[in-house]
Amino acid sequence: MPAYAVIGAQWGDEGKGKVIDALAESVEYVVRFSGGNNAGHTVINEQGKFSLHLVPSGIFWPQVSCVIGNGVVIDPGVLLEEISGLQNRGVDTSKLYISDRAHVIMPYHVLLDNLEEKAKGGLALGTTGKGVGPAYVDKAARIGIRVGDLLEIDNKDRFFNRFHSVLEQKNTIITKVYGGDPISSDKLIEQCHEWAKGLAQYVQPTEMILQSALEKGSRILLEGAQGTLLDIDHGTYPYVTSSSPAIGGACTGTGIPPKSIKGVAGVFKAYCTRVGTGPLVTELSDTIGETIRELAWEYGTTTGRARRIGWFDAIAARYSSLVNGYTSLILTRLDVLDGISPIKICTGYRLDGKTITYFPTNSETLERCEPIYENIPGWQEPTASVKDLAKLPDGALNYIKRLESFIGVPIHMISTGPNRDETIMIKNIIS
Ligand code: IMP
Repeated sequence: MPAYAVIGAQWGDEGKGKVIDALAESVEYVVRFSGGNNAGHTVINEQGKFSLHLVPSGIFWPQVSCVIGNGVVIDPGVLLEEISGLQNRGVDTSKLYISDRAHVIMPYHVLLDNLEEKAKGGLALGTTGKGVGPAYVDKAARIGIRVGDLLEIDNKDRFFNRFHSVLEQKNTIITKVYGGDPISSDKLIEQCHEWAKGLAQYVQPTEMILQSALEKGSRILLEGAQGTLLDIDHGTYPYVTSSSPAIGGACTGTGIPPKSIKGVAGVFKAYCTRVGTGPLVTELSDTIGETIRELAWEYGTTTGRARRIGWFDAIAARYSSLVNGYTSLILTRLDVLDGISPIKICTGYRLDGKTITYFPTNSETLERCEPIYENIPGWQEPTASVKDLAKLPDGALNYIKRLESFIGVPIHMISTGPNRDETIMIKNIIS
């Protein structure tokens, strides 16, 4: 009966793809619940290295059915290409289901995302440019086109009339506000026909599938995308994504009720990264930041952009835990800190001459905060590929303990490398 959620606990890119792939061994369903192809989940297993953007990271396990939930926004061209890319590499996609309630990212969303960012100049958010924000805008404005509507492309009321009225509105904005080129309705209709044909076999009322899975006692893993500090409500607004990557999104984005969620695991990197603009109190602009970026290859899976690097921010981490109610923590990329000493943990902020230990709501306030650090001695021995907690160096164990005590939640899993088996499982997260 239970569902378990795996949530990005920082600004995304915490290594959720590897974690989900490893945990999916013990479940029957893996469900994406928010975001779109702004996400990039890297999975490395015996079948090779994969960068997934929409397909859930459980796709490699034969017993797993994968669901793209209603909270996800789907660029059909990207999804179809991802599915055929997987099939060409021998991955079985026959148990993939797509919610008929998920909204479609249309080419005008992608165009508007980029035009809006350009027009913002210095105030640009640094979006991934995939049309995710504008698609959620239309969802909230109740003019979005859902996957189920796309399949009824020849139905005048359900698709055709609405499509034309929305496209006319979008083309007016594209041409009159931004001076861009309009999108041809004939070409887009033709494309929609192709997308509908390609997607039809996967589309289902997925909330019903998940309800019946829960009734049968199947285990469901809810795969978070992005991170809590990018959440539209709980993140560093306005420098956020347009969806709900925190735990609330796991219910609204799937149709699974909160009472079915038995565990919430927060995935933290052993340090912080962030792509795009917005506050990062512990940002490292020195050679340590450079070293970590190169060592850990901290470049975006989706856009290739260099990620900003910072020390672990325990204030932000505690806030993330408060919002999500973590029952477990998962620590990734511990090995990146091998050989760095001292390691710093931010345990407070200095704001206007005072020390604060809460995470301010306002991004401008957060920008003015200076980190207060606790220095932790590093360790010289390698932790990469270690699979047994007892084999970690004392320095690493001490660092882990300090993080646990700051956040107040136990670490149940540690990732020590990109491969499935480079994992220390301290306590089973799925029972
Ligand atoms: P959007 O989601 O493309 O609208 O981008 C909004 C903000 O979220 C930008 O700062 C992006 O860099 C960031 N963002 C979106 N998706 C991800 C992700 O998967 N990992 C990290 N940052 C992301």
